[in-house]
Amino acid sequence: MTERSGEDTFQIGTEAMQAEHRSQFAMVDTLCNALRQGRDQSEIDDILEQVIDYTHVHFMAEQLLMRLHEYPESPVHCREHAKVLEQLQTLRRDVQAGTVTNALDVIETIRKGLRAHIGGSDLALSNFLGDRGVPIP
Ligand SMILES: [Fe+2]
Ligand SMILES: [Fe+2]
Repeated sequence: MTERSGEDTFQIGTEAMQAEHRSQFAMVDTLCNALRQGRDQSEIDDILEQVIDYTHVHFMAEQLLMRLHEYPESPVHCREHAKVLEQLQTLRRDVQAGTVTNALDVIETIRKGLRAHIGGSDLALSNFLGDRGVPIP
C-alpha cells in the first residue's frame, strides 16, 4: 500500500465512496480538535462513537459492493477494515478508562493507515469495479 496525500485521497472510488471518505476524515479532524481543546472525556467519547459508527457503516457499504460483484480481494480488504475498527475501538476503551496519554499520536497513526487503505485497497476495488463497467453513482 502506498500513502497518498492531500486531495488525491478523496478522488478515489465512486462518488459515494469519495463523499464518505471526506466525512470520515472530517470526523477524525473534529476528534483531534476536541482533544487539542481539552474537551471533557464524555464529549471525546461521543465523537469517537460517531467516528466508529460512521466508519463501520462506510466499511459495510464497501463490503456490500465487494460481495455483490464477487470481488476476489475481499478477504484482505475486509481484514484491513477490521484492523482500523479495532484500533478505533481500542482507543475508545482507553479513553473511557482514562489510560490514554497520546491520543493524538494514536489518531495520527489511524489517519495514516486510512489514507494508505484508501490509496491501496480502495483504489484497487475502485479499479476493479470500473473494469467491470459497474455504474458509478
Ligand atoms: Fe473506504
Ligand atoms: Fe475499504
